[in-house]
Amino acid sequence: METIRRTKIVDLLKREDFGAMVNVKGWVRTRRGSKQVNFIALNDGSTINNVQIVVDLANFDEELLKLITTGACLSVNGELVKSVGSGQAAEIQAREIEVLGTCDNTYPLQKKGHSMEFLREIAHLRPRTNTFGAVFRIRHNMAIAIHKFFHERGFFYFHTPLITASDCEGAGQMFQVTTMNLYDLKKDENGSIIYDNDFFGKQASLTVSGQLEGELAATALGAIYTFGPTFRAENSNTPRHLAEFWMIEPEVAFNDINDNMDLAEEFIKYCVQWALDNCYDDVKFLNDMFDKGLIDRLQGVLKESFVRLPYTEGIKILEEAVANGHKFEFPVYWGVDLASEHERFLVEEHFKRPVILTDYPKEIKAFYMKQNEDGKTVRAMDVLFPKIGEIIGGSEREADYDKLLTRIQELNIPMKDMWWYLDTRKYGSCPHSGFGLGFERLLLFVTGMANIRDVIPFPRTPRNAEF
Ligand code: 4AD
Ligand code: MG
Repeated sequence: METIRRTKIVDLLKREDFGAMVNVKGWVRTRRGSKQVNFIALNDGSTINNVQIVVDLANFDEELLKLITTGACLSVNGELVKSVGSGQAAEIQAREIEVLGTCDNTYPLQKKGHSMEFLREIAHLRPRTNTFGAVFRIRHNMAIAIHKFFHERGFFYFHTPLITASDCEGAGQMFQVTTMNLYDLKKDENGSIIYDNDFFGKQASLTVSGQLEGELAATALGAIYTFGPTFRAENSNTPRHLAEFWMIEPEVAFNDINDNMDLAEEFIKYCVQWALDNCYDDVKFLNDMFDKGLIDRLQGVLKESFVRLPYTEGIKILEEAVANGHKFEFPVYWGVDLASEHERFLVEEHFKRPVILTDYPKEIKAFYMKQNEDGKTVRAMDVLFPKIGEIIGGSEREADYDKLLTRIQELNIPMKDMWWYLDTRKYGSCPHSGFGLGFERLLLFVTGMANIRDVIPFPRTPRNAEF
């Protein structure tokens, strides 16, 4: 076969130099046609759109044609021609075809319309579907948007460790990391495991959040963000929880909670706008195939300013709804950790736009949050989104050494884990704030997918670590 430099399909479909000889490589999505001429829809992953290859059967060997099946990988040389029927501006009149990889009829993606559950079982192949191609291209673009947003605003990308000895959220949901022989654990006279000979010489785990180390950086570099994987051994099998998920955590010196809310709102709107500007073909595909309200919802979020409301006011609204006959599965009362149904009621039914709930009871929030004067609440903020519920959790941080120490002691957090964190308050303490955005929750919103397992390539959930 003649050597011609390969063109990606995304670029090829924009070309207008009809008559040029081109080469494309990709996988066969469909093949149809008559006894004289066949049409192959070829996709190379660079775009949701296929290029149509027109094949005059008389010009090709019969044995070769038999190998052009759904899923097969082809290299095609041909003439770029203006298209009339393919739905694209350009198509290729094939001159030479090479089958790089054959694909027999055991290929599970023969026809369209598989259930999402089935596609999860073949997560190694699902990127080859239109849906997952779109989702993973959007995932890439969102990651770029995030770095761009912070870089343009003078934030530094700071790398926090994945292996840690401290539990940032204090929720006891950590995966332990050890090289000890689990069949032969050494214990002391109280029955406690002795970690002296473990790899790190103490108990270590995968991190649930980079925030504590992020605060060390913010109180030195001014404004930082982290963007990396985090791990939570929470046994919740829901469409919104993963055991391994990616989180973005900005942390900013001298920001109070209002600045923090401004940053969160600007950040999310920037990401949503980016999706509409840079992933429109993919977003439109998902809108048309799965979720007819998707584009409207994305545009809706951009138009309106987010409601900002204290937790206590939110509870009043929910209690009124209950009094007026609205049925929730879980009870509503001051002090309760809101369930997703409560959050979604506020966002989708009451306000009909995103809500930032602030000033939560201190008992349901982490130790590091700034304590309010009422002695009952802390300067927390959760951003609640339509269809998702909590998409961001954050707070202004307690900057006062004594108050922070008291809270750590009240919660029985071991001081041996926290001395370095307390040093930020001991040496030149400053007001500061930050938050964490769940990357996959943002992707749920932007793609309209219903299950968080479908916006990460290889989901890790309770009892599932396949691939
Ligand atoms: O509210 P969370 O637990 O807050 C923190 O981890 C803070 N350290 C953040 C900070 O202030 N720097 O988690 C933050 C966000 C949640 O709002 C949610 O979007 C996401 O992380 N998240 C999860 N996403 C997927 N699966 C899970 N199991 C998640 N847990 C939290
Ligand atoms: Mg939270």
